Amino acid sequence: MKQNSQLTPNPIFLKTLRKIKGMPYDRGFSLPGLFYSDPAWMQIELEELFTRDWFCVGRFEEVSKPGDYFAFDHIGEPILVVHGRDGVLRALANVCRHRGTVVASGAGNAKKFMCPYHHWAYDTTGQLLNAPGMDSHADFNLHQCRLPELKCEVWQGFVFVTMNPQAADLISELAPVEQLIGNYHLEQMSTRYLTEEVWETNWKCLLENFMEGYHLSPLHKNTLHKVNPSRLCQHIPPGKRHFGYSVGFTSRVPSKRVGHPDLSSDEANTCVMLALPPGLAIGIGSDYGSFLCIRPETPTQVRVKMGLIFYGDHWKDGDVDSAIELFQKTMAEDKEVLARVQQGLGSRFHAPGPLASPDLEGTIWDFYQYLSRNLCKTVTRKS
Ligand code: FES
Ligand SMILES: [Fe+2]
Repeated sequence: MKQNSQLTPNPIFLKTLRKIKGMPYDRGFSLPGLFYSDPAWMQIELEELFTRDWFCVGRFEEVSKPGDYFAFDHIGEPILVVHGRDGVLRALANVCRHRGTVVASGAGNAKKFMCPYHHWAYDTTGQLLNAPGMDSHADFNLHQCRLPELKCEVWQGFVFVTMNPQAADLISELAPVEQLIGNYHLEQMSTRYLTEEVWETNWKCLLENFMEGYHLSPLHKNTLHKVNPSRLCQHIPPGKRHFGYSVGFTSRVPSKRVGHPDLSSDEANTCVMLALPPGLAIGIGSDYGSFLCIRPETPTQVRVKMGLIFYGDHWKDGDVDSAIELFQKTMAEDKEVLARVQQGLGSRFHAPGPLASPDLEGTIWDFYQYLSRNLCKTVTRKS
């Protein structure tokens, strides 16, 4: 979605964000439907959250070898993540320095990237290598021309990018999160399922859904409820960069779990659901986990790159297939209900409703507090 600075937000946004700031969990309520459909509000979220902050674009394993790359569009910006043949992982603006064509597309392994329009060619560090017929230009120096570089970091095996050169140092900002889940060693897990879809819902609905345990038993009655029921959910105190909950496993799940040796027995028998807003959500059990990389497309559509990661070499293909099947079924249930949520949020009769206890829906309130902290000032400026 392209940004449009002419849009002015409705006063309801500022009023709501001010009202909820610091309010206790037992007074929590859902946001007005306009938060999930208004283009002016979406523009603020894109600018303040998805442009200023770091966003997760996938797993390092996707680009683990020199020459590996993937190209994608992030809120209208073409970006290329590439493992340079010099060994450095980079995020580059995927926009030709000649007349602006998007240079690379898809994913793969490359020695160089050639713009399809006039065949300017760039190496895997973004440096221009060749520009046919351009020798006669008085002010053009091929050696001083390269694709602009964005900040890029890898944390726990996840690749993060930001378009903001002044963005805070991601690794030190995430130190408290590392303390929470470091023992699972996500960086040692390998991706054995990866897919990308567009869902017919606002990006916040998707994040909220992944991050609350209230619906686990009712909506996922025949899937997740048998493994991680709502009654075993426990709220985790939120931090500046994260919020989440944990959920135990039912007695149907074998108690001997084969995760990293650093895990305590409590950790090995608990699943941690963690959001690193704006765009990453992780669910991690002892020896495998799931993740969502969330990218808003329109106020009512979100692109999600999602996958499963596995620890250790004890996994048999059949067990991996069962984990994938459970994930696919669960996500299909979520996808269907979120389209219905989006429809209801657009109704003139929708009104904010009360949130359940912190163990069940405290994360929704944490997420709203995050929005309030990060967006209140901006809305004030624009109103
Ligand atoms: S626009 Fe890329 S080579 Fe001309
Ligand atoms: Fe769900």
